[in-house]
Amino acid sequence: TKRLTLRDLQGLCDRQEPIASLTAYDATQARLMDAAGVDLVLVGDSLGMVVLGHETTLPVTMDDMIYHTRAVARGLRRALLMADMPFMSYVSVDQALHNAARLMQEGGAQMVKLEGDAQQVAVVTAMSHHGIPVCAHLGLRPQSVHKLGGYRVQGREAAAAQRMIKDAMALQEAGADMLLLECVPSTLAAEIRAMARIPVIGIGAGAQCDGQILVVQDILGMTDHAPRFAKNFLTGQASVQAALAAYVQAVKSGSFPAVEHSFLS
Ligand code: KIV
Ligand code: NA
Repeated sequence: TKRLTLRDLQGLCDRQEPIASLTAYDATQARLMDAAGVDLVLVGDSLGMVVLGHETTLPVTMDDMIYHTRAVARGLRRALLMADMPFMSYVSVDQALHNAARLMQEGGAQMVKLEGDAQQVAVVTAMSHHGIPVCAHLGLRPQSVHKLGGYRVQGREAAAAQRMIKDAMALQEAGADMLLLECVPSTLAAEIRAMARIPVIGIGAGAQCDGQILVVQDILGMTDHAPRFAKNFLTGQASVQAALAAYVQAVKSGSFPAVEHSFLS
């Protein structure tokens, strides 16, 4: 098997074949996801919550991210490997370049992701100029949970929706290679996807995206209070392997997400 590249994912997007993506935090999860045909694996800073037991993603450090990215990289042969830039690791252009390079050189990531709006245009531009593939995460940005006042759907009001569209286009023009939309109304996600030429991956963003991502613990029924946009794919399956394959199949066929996993407005 050959390693998927950004061009391969762009090809899936151009052919309108949904991109199946999951988070992973260790080598075993990575190996099973490869076998199941997951296209894109994210070492999310959600590891602060689901692996390390913190209340939020804010305490996650660069060292935490590198430790888990290395583990996932060792288990992965096919899927593209993306790693999150943790809270406060990209406040200046220099710091962002330094930390992104660490995730790639020490961690083995092929791509990084940061939570951003138009404020991050300078960082994304610099990364793009230096050959660092970058995904911009818009909508619900968990690193801003204290500013947002909780985990809630974003872009419901017309003004906020227009701002998100503008931010998404600004980040694409700055050189972002992918957009990730978390907890946004399906209609807004569809609008952004229609305007974007780069892949738009959704989580709680409805079916009209180029791909879907979920936290692996949420699809394996391991979370106490899984978010409404997630689905337990272990139900009715005999193994974790079968559950992962069912997830990939559901994303590829368009049967996930259904209306009950989406926010209509
Ligand atoms: O950290 C994470 O797991 C993420 C995904 C939920 C998109 O950013
Ligand atoms: Na994240």
